[in-house]
Amino acid sequence: MKAVLIKAFGGPENLHIGNWEKPSPKPQELLIKVHATALNRADTMQRKGQYPPPPGDSPILGLEIAGEVVALGTEVTNWKIGDKICGLIGGGGYAEYAVIPAAQALPIPENLTYEEAAGIPEVFLTAFQAINWIGKLKKEERILIHAGASGVGTAAIQIAKAIGAEIFVTASKGKHETCLNLGAAKAIDYKKDNFQEQVLAFTDGKGVDMIIDFIAAPYFQQNINSLNFDGRMVMLALMGGFKLGELNMLPILFKRIKIQGSTLRARTLDYKAKLTKDLYDFAWHRFETGEFKPIIDSVYDWTEVAEAHRYMEANKNIGKIILKIV
Ligand SMILES: NC(=O)c1ccc[n+]([C@@H]2O[C@H](COP(=O)([O-])OP(=O)(O)OC[C@H]3O[C@@H](n4cnc5c(N)ncnc54)[C@H](OP(=O)(O)O)[C@@H]3O)[C@@H](O)[C@H]2O)c1
Repeated sequence: MKAVLIKAFGGPENLHIGNWEKPSPKPQELLIKVHATALNRADTMQRKGQYPPPPGDSPILGLEIAGEVVALGTEVTNWKIGDKICGLIGGGGYAEYAVIPAAQALPIPENLTYEEAAGIPEVFLTAFQAINWIGKLKKEERILIHAGASGVGTAAIQIAKAIGAEIFVTASKGKHETCLNLGAAKAIDYKKDNFQEQVLAFTDGKGVDMIIDFIAAPYFQQNINSLNFDGRMVMLALMGGFKLGELNMLPILFKRIKIQGSTLRARTLDYKAKLTKDLYDFAWHRFETGEFKPIIDSVYDWTEVAEAHRYMEANKNIGKIILKIV
């Protein structure tokens, strides 16, 4: 089969389409003819040699797919050939064929295309895990979502809105409209304004009950200062750096703050299967009615994969960047 391969770790110019062995499904897996995959920051890090795939997973880039079932593992009973599915995989999405554990496959809602469906799994599973499982956000609570126009951010806004929370985001100014249209009450231009001051001003000095953070070190102090009593912060990335200089830890103690980091890729199959099932129950009827939608920034033909990586690394996207696989 054809797949996107890496000539040498480094820049996007190292990506090219070449030949690779077609995978075959294990007893509890499906073989999928991939029609679309989506970019994730993890792909850009793996391309540079900074994020090796977990043992046993495909070394080919691509953590999510949308496509058609073309073969079933011997123990699979709940899917059939021809079913249209999307889902999270450990690697191997930038290819004509990929395998997925049957318990991680989700039916593509009838109103969505392959390109749209490929933009759901990683960001909705991540946002759902952070908001519903870890942060346990409740109706009428307040949440601050950093990088509000990112793939994960746009999914998080929709989930928090469905729960009935009040939503604040940080994002580049040109991305505010999308966040507000999705349900954010306020968007903060973090390049111009101090987000801690803005959050405290919007909340009468109380702060927010939950934060989803991707920026880490440069935001850490302001984040804990922006949290309310019993506030929860879920850390999903370290995009701004991971070493702290000075830190005043007092707010963690006296506001009883909980901080949890998480990654999705290294979780067990059982964990991912349970998360997939819970996301399905919470979100699938919402996709079918149009209440939830994957926010698609752009669709590239997979021959333009290097350009798609450059675009993501320039922080230009609002929502997901999709690769169409022919
Ligand atoms: N832990 C997990 O389970 C998990 C799962 C999925 C993704 N992630 C991580 O979560 C992060 C967001 O993923 P995504 O796919 O949603 O990202 P994305 O769509 O590529 O968006 C990232 C956005 O973050 C904003 N940003 C703010 N500060 C930044 C900085 N210092 N460096 C780079 N970007 C910055 C930029 O938007 P502005 O123009 O608004 O600044 C940028 O466009 C990534 O780091 C990804 O690896 C973690």
